[in-house]
Amino acid sequence: MSALELLKKEHKLIQRYLDNMSVAQDLLIERETVPPTVIKGAIRFAKDFMNKTHHFKEEYVLFLKLAEKKGGELDPQIVSLRDQHERSRGLVSKIKEALSGYEKGDEVSFSAMAEQMGYYVSLEKSHLHREDHVFYPLAEKLFSAEEMAAFDVEFAKIDEKQGKGSFQKGVEMVEAIEADMKGKFGAVYRDRYEELVKAHHHV
Ligand SMILES: [Fe+2]
Ligand SMILES: [Fe+2]
Repeated sequence: MSALELLKKEHKLIQRYLDNMSVAQDLLIERETVPPTVIKGAIRFAKDFMNKTHHFKEEYVLFLKLAEKKGGELDPQIVSLRDQHERSRGLVSKIKEALSGYEKGDEVSFSAMAEQMGYYVSLEKSHLHREDHVFYPLAEKLFSAEEMAAFDVEFAKIDEKQGKGSFQKGVEMVEAIEADMKGKFGAVYRDRYEELVKAHHHV
């Protein structure tokens, strides 16, 4: 699998995660208590998979090489994508801050959780879309096959350093979130989730 194919495959998993978070956020708005294990799993996925596995490869390989190659021309794009990564991390911190109050049933924390989750899902969805439709195609155009092959090597090294199997670990984290959502909300969860998946296929 080429480096960009791997990044796109990671996006699909992130999308699946975001669809789950989107259902969770809807339920929070309706004052349904989403299990804290779901929120904890979401924070873990954001840190371990999105930041460590995915954003790391983008920032330290793809963005860096693109900046080198295009010498400043792409800086505004890259700065803005990096800024979205940073803001996404900030929102995850806010979700984490609200967690202990949320677990105690505190109303202000409950509202904060629903609100921050909404910002987070919306930011991540637009970020993913932008990379898939604008930034990755641009990278595909700008780099030669040899340069792309060098990314594969870099990515393999990163995976090795991170203890290998990072994708599989990500899948397992999302599966755990799904199991908890299904366990608590059953058919309500399933129907809303399927609705979202169907909507993607129509885009
Ligand atoms: Fe990104
Ligand atoms: Fe990405």
